[in-house]
Amino acid sequence: MVAVAERVLDAVADIAPDIRAGLPGRRRYLDGENPSGEEVLAADVFADETIESALAAVEGVGTYASEERESAVDLGEGRVSVAVDPLDGSSNLQSNNPMGTVVAVYDGDLPAPGRDLVGAGYVLYGPVTTMVAGVGAPADATVREYLVEDGEREPVETVELPEEPTVYGFGGRVPDWPDDVAAYVEAVEAELKLRYGGAMIADVSQVLSYGGVFAYPTLASSPEGKLRLQFEGNPVAYLVEGAGGRSSDGERSLLDVPATGLHQRVPVYVGNDALIERLESTLA
Ligand code: AHG
Ligand code: MN
Ligand code: MN
Repeated sequence: MVAVAERVLDAVADIAPDIRAGLPGRRRYLDGENPSGEEVLAADVFADETIESALAAVEGVGTYASEERESAVDLGEGRVSVAVDPLDGSSNLQSNNPMGTVVAVYDGDLPAPGRDLVGAGYVLYGPVTTMVAGVGAPADATVREYLVEDGEREPVETVELPEEPTVYGFGGRVPDWPDDVAAYVEAVEAELKLRYGGAMIADVSQVLSYGGVFAYPTLASSPEGKLRLQFEGNPVAYLVEGAGGRSSDGERSLLDVPATGLHQRVPVYVGNDALIERLESTLA
């Protein structure tokens, strides 16, 4: 399984430069919506199709699922299912801010709990293109950063959450936060610096680099929050926990949230252990 996960990450690194090069001409919205009822950019579709064809060539991958598609795609023989957010934070394309690609490699059929992950990673299209990824069961994962150049991924360093937290970023609108979420943010904003950029993986990258907490919380208007468990919550929980941090849906690790649907949403809280523990006791 680890070998298949490595091949999936290599395949995504290989086409990352193509996705980045394809962004400039695809900044317009298409007609229609994705399965989560959101607008779709030409870049979302381009990234989705590029990744699907790359993964179709990876031995051992039997299923491809994308945030942009209603149901999973059968790629033939293979136990491994790969769930992809082809372009995370794609609304940042218009404003030319960072965004990325998120990959979750599951052993078995989808939807799957995060404990079934055998690898996960994200590509960050920032000033430089990097990948943060790990392979193996969640408890065994070592999370590393790679520089992605010419489709190759060069290891840079092992990723470990700094002891001292520095930054926080909470999605959604303040009036939409339930009182307990608002109370928690009021406490942490007195201790940490605000870093919120509208792309989950770019904001999580801040937390992995500087320590702190990222959340797209439960909202009064949508108790399940905005982010999707299969494509965003599980892989990010895998990476942050693998880097020595903690994840939560408000009660427990995101990796323990039962999988009920391919596009199910989940509140996402990730970061330093003490900050997430404090959050869970505030929300209890
Ligand atoms: P996507 O572009 O894949 O739909 O993801 C966008 C998500 C996530 O990346 C980010 O944390 C959040 O939406 C931002 O939401 P707001 O625009 O409501 O801040
Ligand atoms: Mn996303
Ligand atoms: Mn997306």
